[in-house]
Amino acid sequence: MMLFYLLLSFLFLLSGCSKEAGEKEELQKSEEVQVINVKVPSIVKDKCIMCHDVYKRKVGPSFVQVRDKYKEDPKAIEKISRSIKRGSQGKWGRVAMLPNDVTEEEAKQIAEWIMSLK
Ligand code: HEC
Repeated sequence: MMLFYLLLSFLFLLSGCSKEAGEKEELQKSEEVQVINVKVPSIVKDKCIMCHDVYKRKVGPSFVQVRDKYKEDPKAIEKISRSIKRGSQGKWGRVAMLPNDVTEEEAKQIAEWIMSLK
C-alpha cells in the first residue's frame, strides 16, 4: 500500500513538471496508467513472471486473460488458486503448468490479485 502511495506521489511530481508541454501530457497520462497497473506482488515476480505477463501471453496466459475467463465464475478464486498450487493442463493450450512452490494461502492471495486487476 505504502509503495502505491509513493508511486502516486511520484507520478504527481512527474505530471507537474510537464504541465507546459501540452502534448507530452497525454503521453505521460497513458504511462501513468501502465505504471499503476503493473503493481506485481514480489512472489509473482519471483515465481511466475518467467512464464506469465500481466498483459501479454507468454508460455502461459496473461493474467488479464485469466481474469477475463473467470470473471463470471463465483468459484474463480477457488479454481485459480487450485491451479496455481497444483498445476494446470489443457485449459489454455498444449503446454501444462507444473505445481508451483507456494502455500495455499499464497496461492489464494495471488488468485485474488489476479481477479482484482483493472
Ligand atoms: C514454467 C512456466 C510457468 C510458471 C513458472 C508458472 N506458470 Fe502458470 N501457467 C503456465 C502454463 C503453460 C499455463 C496453461 C496451463 C493450461 O493450459 O491449463 C498456466 C496457467 C496458469 C493459470 C490459469 C489456470 C486456470 O485454471 O485457468 C494461472 C492462474 C497461472 N498459470 C498462474 C501462475 C502463477 C501465479 C504462477 C507463479 C506462482 C505461475 N502460474 C507459474 C506456465 C507457467
